[in-house]
Amino acid sequence: MKKINIILLGPPGAGKGTAAKQIAEKHSIPQISTGDIFREAVKKETELGKQVKAIMERGELVPDELTVSLVKERLAQPDTSNGYILDGFPRTVNQAEALSEFQEIKAVINFNLPEEEIIRRLSGRRVCKNCGAIYHITDFPPKKEGICDKCGGELYQRPDDKIESIKKRLEVYKEQTAPLIDYYRGKNLLYDINTTIEPKDITPEVSVKQIEEIFEKLGLT
Ligand code: AP5
Repeated sequence: MKKINIILLGPPGAGKGTAAKQIAEKHSIPQISTGDIFREAVKKETELGKQVKAIMERGELVPDELTVSLVKERLAQPDTSNGYILDGFPRTVNQAEALSEFQEIKAVINFNLPEEEIIRRLSGRRVCKNCGAIYHITDFPPKKEGICDKCGGELYQRPDDKIESIKKRLEVYKEQTAPLIDYYRGKNLLYDINTTIEPKDITPEVSVKQIEEIFEKLGLT
């Protein structure tokens, strides 16, 4: 079986995490989200959590060196033997260069979404404190307000989903992460999704279906 070593790239709120969870479950490979790893560290008040808390709340990036060493350690775990989905990493050209030294990436899926829709989605996002399930107050509301359908956990708004942090994250994305589009296109690894679809028609099912089509094309299924 071919290893599914995939990167999900795209602006904040484009639906990477939502799609990654579905793809990971279907293919029995781990979703590795650097954002989730950092949030868990903040929640547990570990040394790492203390280092990254304020950076994340401001919507800035955690330093490359720290992020790369964490990902390197995570990718050495046995559950990655059939592949993995990297969600939110790499986010700078430096991170991508470092990754290429120890991993072979099969494809980079580039999510597209207009800025006003990103702001609408992020300001309405709610996340389960317990299991990390993702909701939206109008698009994907839980059956019972504030309570996770899957595990009964409490839903909360991420501190970086406040409007000022969202704007900062978009700025950081344009300056530091968007250059990765050309970087990976130059390596013939980039696959765009959601480019010709109206934002209102981009549902998680549509994004997942497009990703599955790319997998088929690459012989990864
Ligand atoms: P991270 O957790 O990676 O956040 P992000 O990239 O900003 O991505 P998001 O989680 O906000 O968005 P998403 O694309 O996953 O969207 P989602 O599926 O939730 O990073 C957070 C912070 O950690 C960074 O700011 C930085 O400080 C630090 N960090 C992380 N990685 C780092 C790195 N590599 N280097 C340095 N620092 C790093 O969907 C959003 C909303 O839309 C939800 O409400 C959802 O229900 C809804 N939705 C999703 N898909 C659809 C759809 N198809 N149709 C309609 N609604 C949808």
